[in-house]
Amino acid sequence: MSKAASVVTTLTVSDPATFTTVLHSLYGPVHKELRSQLFALQMQIGAADADDWQQRADIHAFADNLHRHLKSHAGHEERWIVPVLIEHAPEVGEVLEAQHEAFEPILNSIVELAEALAGAEETDEASHILEVLHLDTSRFIGAYLTHMDIEERIAMPMLERTLGPEGVMELHENLLGGVTPEAMAQMQAFMLPAMNPHERISMLAGIRAGAPAEVYEGTLMLAGSVLKPAEMHALEAALLATAS
Ligand SMILES: [Fe+2]
Repeated sequence: MSKAASVVTTLTVSDPATFTTVLHSLYGPVHKELRSQLFALQMQIGAADADDWQQRADIHAFADNLHRHLKSHAGHEERWIVPVLIEHAPEVGEVLEAQHEAFEPILNSIVELAEALAGAEETDEASHILEVLHLDTSRFIGAYLTHMDIEERIAMPMLERTLGPEGVMELHENLLGGVTPEAMAQMQAFMLPAMNPHERISMLAGIRAGAPAEVYEGTLMLAGSVLKPAEMHALEAALLATAS
């Protein structure tokens, strides 16, 4: 078998009949949001017109913003999740910690490349940087998807077994307590369209039950600005039906 073929054969597909999901995932909607942002950046780079300085500046701003977001996301995991894993499953916690460290300089380089793209004076130069950025971003996303896969398939079930569903909920509340309102709004702008209807209803109902009324109203307004009219209508109808 060729080397290339053997790489492909290491991939496996889960059997839905035996695959068990956790009761409460720390990663589910957040990772949907991260995938959505990463794929959006990749598409924006792939479709960019090297002649258009505004498109190039937008790519730089998007990459810079996403870098900050991924850094803060990793920071929350390092503070709340990784220590629990290192205590109970060091082989998993140490891998995730090392990956977070390894991603940081790569993301820095990607943002620097995007900055050079925004500042390029000649179209040829911008076009060349776009090509490099497209490949480098794609390779980073590949590695990041694998990182999230370890968190979702290995770390999360391990946390549930170790802490129990209630311990996981408590950990989640602690983690969310460290997210600023601005960062939360930025996450939700990508999270809401990336979630399925059930997840949207559950998130909004949770905010209605546990947060001040103005936070709930603000999140509803944000949802109205990022969801399709039919999605928003379904969300509002479900929230009305469950209002006490
Ligand atoms: Fe992570």
